Amino acid sequence: MTTPAVTTPAVTAAATTAPATTPAASVEAHGTEARGTELERRIAQDPGGFRVLTGDRPTGPLHLGHYFGSLLNRVRLQNLGVEVVVLIPDYQVITDRDTAERLGEYTDGLLLDYLALGIDPARSTVFCHSAVPALNQLMLPFLSLVSVAELNRNPTVKDEIAHSRQSTVSGLMLTYPVHQAADILSCKGNVVPVGRDQAPHLELTRTIARRFNERYGAVFQEPDIMLSAAPLLLGTDGTKMSKSRANSVPLGATADETARLIRGATTDAERHITYDPDARPNVSSLVLLAALCLDRDPHEVAAEIGDGGAAALKRTVTDAVNSHLAPFRARRAEYAKDLTFVRSVLRAGNERANALAEATLDEVREAMGAFR
Ligand code: TRP
Repeated sequence: MTTPAVTTPAVTAAATTAPATTPAASVEAHGTEARGTELERRIAQDPGGFRVLTGDRPTGPLHLGHYFGSLLNRVRLQNLGVEVVVLIPDYQVITDRDTAERLGEYTDGLLLDYLALGIDPARSTVFCHSAVPALNQLMLPFLSLVSVAELNRNPTVKDEIAHSRQSTVSGLMLTYPVHQAADILSCKGNVVPVGRDQAPHLELTRTIARRFNERYGAVFQEPDIMLSAAPLLLGTDGTKMSKSRANSVPLGATADETARLIRGATTDAERHITYDPDARPNVSSLVLLAALCLDRDPHEVAAEIGDGGAAALKRTVTDAVNSHLAPFRARRAEYAKDLTFVRSVLRAGNERANALAEATLDEVREAMGAFR
C-alpha cells in the first residue's frame, strides 16, 4: 500500500504500554522510543485536556494485531486519565460490501473485548454510528468543504477500492473519510490513535476542521494522530492480518482454536529458527508474537527454539498466546454470561455520544447561520 509520508508535526508515535492490569509489559519496550514525543508529553501533563476518538468496524472479531497495535494503547490512555471514546462504525461496514453480515454478533464481540481488556464504562464511552443521528448530519456541511479531486487521490481509499468486494465504486467508498471526520469532530476528539494507513483520513479531518473554522468561525480543533509504535504482525497466511480475512487469531478464541490456527500458519523450509523480519517474514512474525506475549526479546526466543523447527516454534507461540490471554479470556467469558449488561454499556455510550454530537451540531448550525 502506498501511504504518503506525513509531514505534519501532529504525527506522533504512541507508546503502546500495557495497562497495569494486563501482563503485556513487552509492548512497553516497543513503545519506549516514542515515550518522549511531544504529544505524549502534553498528554501526561494534562490528560484531562484530551479526548481520544477511535474505533473498529464490526466486520469480524478483534485479533492479536489489534491487541498489540491499538487496544492496549487505548486502555493505557484511559488509565492515564484521558477520556476515551470508542466508536463501533456500523454504518461504515457497507463501505466495501453490499450488506452488513452478523452485525449484532460482531458488535457484541467488540463490546466483550473492550470490557475484558479494561475499557471502563464509568470513564469511557462506546457508541455506534446508527444510534447517533447528529453525527451523520455533519456529513453535509463537511462534504461541501472537500473537492472531488481530494477525495479521488486519497491513497488509502485507492487501496481499498483495489481490494473491494464490490465491482463498482460507491459514493460512500469515496466519501467515507469525510464521514470519519464527522466521527471524530462530532465528539470533539483531539487525539486519534490509529495505524499508518489511516493517516490520509486524519489529514482530511484536519483539513475539514481548518476549512470549517476559516469559513464559519472557530468551532473545531484539529485533532492529532497518534501512530502506533507496535510492530506489525502478519496473518497466518503471511499477508496483512485482517478481521475479515480468516488469517488471524481472534482474542476471544479458545485455547484449542488458537492451537489449530497457529498450527496452520505459513512458515518456510529452513529448519533453524531465526528472527529476521526482512528475509523471513512469516517465521519472524510468529517469533515476534511469542516474544510480545512472553515480554522477551525476539532474537532470544528464536535462538532458544533453534533447530526445533516450525513445529517447536508453533508450540512456543501457542503456549505464549494462550497463557498471555488466559486472564483476558476468563474476564471475557464472565461478561459473556451477562449480555444484558454488556449491551447496556453501548446504550449508555450512545446516549453520551448523542449529547456530544448534538451539542456540536448546535454549534455548527449557529456558526453557519442557524438553519432552523
Ligand atoms: N476507518 C477506521 C478503520 O478502518 C475505523 C474508523 C471509523 C475510525 N471511524 C473512525 C478510526 C474514527 C478512528 C476514528 O480502522
